Amino acid sequence: LIDTGFHYFDHATTSRPKAPGVIDATMAFYQNICASPSRTGHQLGTSANKILIQAREIACEYFGARSPNHIVFTGGATESLNIVIRSVLKKGHEVVISSLAHNAVIRPLARLEESGITVRVISVGIGANFSNFAERFVECFNTRTTLAVLTQASNVDGTVLPIAEITARAKEMGIPVLVDAAQSSGWLSREDLCGEADYFATSLHKGLRGPFGLGILIVGRDNIILDPVIDGGSGLESSNSRPQSVIPNGLETGTMNAAAIAGAVSAFEHAISKEAQEAAQESIFNFQQIMDRLVTLDHIRVFGPSSQDKMVPIVSLQHKHMDTKTFSQILEKKYGILTRVGLHCAPLRHQELGTSPEGTVRISFGHHTTAKDTSIVFNALQNLNKEVL
Ligand SMILES: Cc1ncc(COP(=O)(O)O)c(C=O)c1O
Repeated sequence: LIDTGFHYFDHATTSRPKAPGVIDATMAFYQNICASPSRTGHQLGTSANKILIQAREIACEYFGARSPNHIVFTGGATESLNIVIRSVLKKGHEVVISSLAHNAVIRPLARLEESGITVRVISVGIGANFSNFAERFVECFNTRTTLAVLTQASNVDGTVLPIAEITARAKEMGIPVLVDAAQSSGWLSREDLCGEADYFATSLHKGLRGPFGLGILIVGRDNIILDPVIDGGSGLESSNSRPQSVIPNGLETGTMNAAAIAGAVSAFEHAISKEAQEAAQESIFNFQQIMDRLVTLDHIRVFGPSSQDKMVPIVSLQHKHMDTKTFSQILEKKYGILTRVGLHCAPLRHQELGTSPEGTVRISFGHHTTAKDTSIVFNALQNLNKEVL
């Protein structure tokens, strides 16, 4: 990767650089195969299909899915979430979400509210309020509840929800759970990612360090019928204009991004390696160090993970004496530190944190954020006190 001279702290938007092998595998696909999988019977199509099969297998291994055929490739977590939300919820149904929800959940639900579904939002809370979240969440299920959607890790402040506990209790009560793991994948261990959920949606370009334009939906049960978000060719039942959407192929309509899927195989190979797991742990350690130091800065408001137990390395900041836009611009122009500013597509969490409407400056670590990088960002924040402005 070309050294831009910047310090990149925007990994929650997309990781940078991509995992070793991702770019080479993507290019090799274009150079050596460059044909569509699951459409053609010719040899190059068969080679492309082999990559698709390999990708389903390694994704299945990584996430602990029931089988490779329970893995659906999508255009991103947004599409994966939309598939389930739009397929499962019908007029009269109720869905329960949390205040960590991203607009990839809030917006499709807002559209469905117009056609008679009810959305209940359970506040996650901060500090002590956070500890009884699981209890409060399941308590509000009722006879109309048809789906629970849980954002596993907040993209605003790195808070991780007790998904395993909630999923187990929801299962007892017969309520399917859709987990949005866009921010937790690549950070939490496989056991903690909860392959037990009925539906598991994630993107591959964030913590898993894969290519853009690719996500996964894992279907956790058999005999489930879902509809694709976009109807179109799947290579199956071509003479039927209303085919049953057989999982996975029936949901993968249109020409698949097979080059990105080839890159994703490398991303998974790397994510499974000891090296990647150690790097993630070290980065989390560095993140915890900066969290301890940030609270000593009187001029900065800090909104970090609600629990030290499990977290992803994301923290939101406000400067007490300047607006967030200026704050992020100074960090970039004076110190070369790249952050993300605003509401980060998660408006409910900001309402809860009291950071609406202007939002926060978000700092998110990558797998290779070192102790040195951590000092660079801390020193810059320390220097930005009122006296030196
Ligand atoms: C919690 C959460 N859910 C969903 C998404 C959407 O992911 P994608 O843009 O890959 O579709 C994001 C992206 O930032 C996110 O942070």
